[in-house]
Amino acid sequence: MAGFDVTDLPDLTGRTVVVTGANSGIGRAAARALAGAGAHVVLAVRDLDKGRAAAAAMPGQTEVRQLDLASLASVRTFAAGWEGDLHLLINNAGVMAPPLTRTSEGFELQFGTNHLGHFALTNLLLDHVVDRVVTVSSSGHRFGSIDFDDLNWEHKPYRAWRAYGQSKLANLHFTAELQRRLSAAGSVVLANAAHPGYAATNLSFHTQRRWMDLASALGNRLLAQDEDGGALPMLYAAVADVPGNSYAGPGGFMEQRGAPKLVGRSNAALDAGVARRLWDVSEELTGVRFPLGSTDRS
Ligand SMILES: NC(=O)c1ccc[n+]([C@@H]2O[C@H](COP(=O)([O-])OP(=O)(O)OC[C@H]3O[C@@H](n4cnc5c(N)ncnc54)[C@H](OP(=O)(O)O)[C@@H]3O)[C@@H](O)[C@H]2O)c1
Repeated sequence: MAGFDVTDLPDLTGRTVVVTGANSGIGRAAARALAGAGAHVVLAVRDLDKGRAAAAAMPGQTEVRQLDLASLASVRTFAAGWEGDLHLLINNAGVMAPPLTRTSEGFELQFGTNHLGHFALTNLLLDHVVDRVVTVSSSGHRFGSIDFDDLNWEHKPYRAWRAYGQSKLANLHFTAELQRRLSAAGSVVLANAAHPGYAATNLSFHTQRRWMDLASALGNRLLAQDEDGGALPMLYAAVADVPGNSYAGPGGFMEQRGAPKLVGRSNAALDAGVARRLWDVSEELTGVRFPLGSTDRS
């Protein structure tokens, strides 16, 4: 699939897809492309009006449902309302580098939204998933580390970018451990990850720093690829003939732009022991467990 683009998507008629954060940025672009390929796309968004506005500009069959990943109650309500097969779950929504903020349950916002919200959502929906789970990480995972002593920044001074890095590293550990568990349970479902490189979206406007907003506006205009380009790695991870726990990113300059391919990850992201421990802690924090049979640790 060299040079993969949206025209390489197969006919997805009859497939159902959930894209979190589908009202904006690369999630919106992915939802648009998947709907254009015939899928029934559920835009899982925290603001229904924004979701409806995005869906109105998409072809094909779309539906908008409320999901706030910063509230486990909202995640549970969304999952409880699900009926039937879910062919593809795309865990895309995210926040980057806001001032210290907490979710409804008191988790640091980025860890809570980017990782724990999607962790709970995936496990609550997993009995319905028949094909793939794709989780959107970032090159920023490389400056993250998992601090098991203080995952939620309660005891050390908050560092917004390091917290983003931790949440995006958690996305890769989540994917690896999910795939290990799916395989151990004999499931054919694949867990893959993707990152968009640098895409012009709203992501970098959460810092509440004026200089950062100006730099982001400039970077979005001069350096970034558009949201359609940024969506390609997650679409590739969703449909390409790749093994589970694949990680797709742009194949061009420093993985920041260009057609998608499978890419590497940091050494920290390859630590299976950390992935297992993070999974166990995430189950404790969310109260949501892996729902399928064996989780054989051999
Ligand atoms: N853009 C890049 O260069 C880049 C690079 C690396 C990784 N990524 C990753 O790409 C993903 C998508 O980001 P983007 O660049 O497309 O940014 P974006 O335009 O800001 O889109 C983020 C989406 O996430 C949603 N969201 C945020 N908090 C949520 C919550 N609590 N519950 C439900 N939805 C929530 C946002 O909803 P609202 O519109 O309501 O805020 C929005 O729809 C993120 O996971 C990000 O980490 C992006």
